[in-house]
Amino acid sequence: MDRILIRGGRPLRGRIPISGAKNAALPLLAASLLSEGPLVLENVPDVVDIASMAGLLGELGVGVSIANGEEVGQTITLAARDVKDITAPYDLVRKMRASVVVLGPLVARCGHARVSLPGGCAIGTRPIDFHLKALAQLGAEIELAGGYVEARAPAGGLVGADITFPAVTVTGTENAMMAAALARGETVLHNAAREPEVADLANCLVKMGAEIEGIGTDTIRIQGRDRLSGTTHRVLPDRIETGTYAVAAAITGGDVELTGTSIELIKSVADVLVASGVELTPTANGIRVARENGRLAGVDIMTEPFPGFPTDMQAQAMALMTVAGGAAMITETVFENRCMHVPELCRMGANINVHGASAIIRGVAGLSGAPVMATDLRASVSLVLAGLAAEGETEINRVYHLDRGYERLEAKLAAFGADV
Ligand code: UD1
Repeated sequence: MDRILIRGGRPLRGRIPISGAKNAALPLLAASLLSEGPLVLENVPDVVDIASMAGLLGELGVGVSIANGEEVGQTITLAARDVKDITAPYDLVRKMRASVVVLGPLVARCGHARVSLPGGCAIGTRPIDFHLKALAQLGAEIELAGGYVEARAPAGGLVGADITFPAVTVTGTENAMMAAALARGETVLHNAAREPEVADLANCLVKMGAEIEGIGTDTIRIQGRDRLSGTTHRVLPDRIETGTYAVAAAITGGDVELTGTSIELIKSVADVLVASGVELTPTANGIRVARENGRLAGVDIMTEPFPGFPTDMQAQAMALMTVAGGAAMITETVFENRCMHVPELCRMGANINVHGASAIIRGVAGLSGAPVMATDLRASVSLVLAGLAAEGETEINRVYHLDRGYERLEAKLAAFGADV
């Protein structure tokens, strides 16, 4: 997909099936490297990032077979009987930073891994120093050369350790947890990420035979095993996709049901939506989202690691606040430089001022369609949301980012009654 044309102003109505979480599925796919398998993953979203990760695993020697799901998603079966390569090349890591999650499993299972350094990306510098420090504490020797990280386990394999992360890192916790699952003895991860996607991975590792305590907390205790087995695991629903479509309903004054998901999964986002005047009701299958009569109210938001407000919903929340009554302050604390959607939203008539890590959004009566440019996955979707609410036509360019993380976005929106 190159660009999207949206004729805005239609309230969304209907039912949207929510896909499995991309950010849970990516490390789960990498976990296939930990055992001879087979690992069967259900409810994997059919998006470009998943295809890239499956492609990488295939190149490493993992047998990969894919079957389409009924409504959304796919079932991916992975069998890593022989891992024949241990390199995640520059071209792939550059395009998808999350490919760094093969590092922990490769060094634990094969004793050796080579992963390109991700380098800068559109939302900040995003180093992987915490990942490397954790692996070093498990006994890996780390070398940086030619833009690659090379990690080698000692002769007897990785050894359990007490690891404290200097700051919360999602994929860093995942890398350390997967490596620890095949290390000798006990590993304790302190200040671990509590994101539901980390817990989903831990639950799958338990089914593969690992012993893990403290799942979903900031202290994770892992007893390493000599070997892990295959299993079947269903990927949890995507809380960011859920939140995004909830905003789509709210910003257009619509009334929709999001199925295959739950309010509990989006608690911090639901709190903001409710405070802003959106009605969220649990249904047998998911969530009904409708806007109460009248205008939305501005709500202040600060992004934080889970259970705080997710940085991956910041741009979407900002789109909503552009048309809410009064002012809202949104502060980004997880990533530097994650405000690239601001000038584009302003081109559509939004009133936003950025001061350091905070943006003041003064609600306007309405947005107007304009040609805009997408910069990253979540920034792109915030422009789609603004376009749905705007008067007239919005043309969003460079939308390939959307294909990386949103399964069948145009089809889902069209089924909702949007003119896309
Ligand atoms: C994951 C998500 C991403 C989300 C982010 C924060 C996946 C595949 N991606 O990314 O969508 O936006 O969590 O919720 O799950 N940091 C360091 N050194 C490190 C690691 C991180 O300084 O070694 C910093 C980062 O620059 C950032 C912060 O820590 O400022 C959090 O990053 P992290 O949680 O690691 O993000 P990802 O795991 O890359």
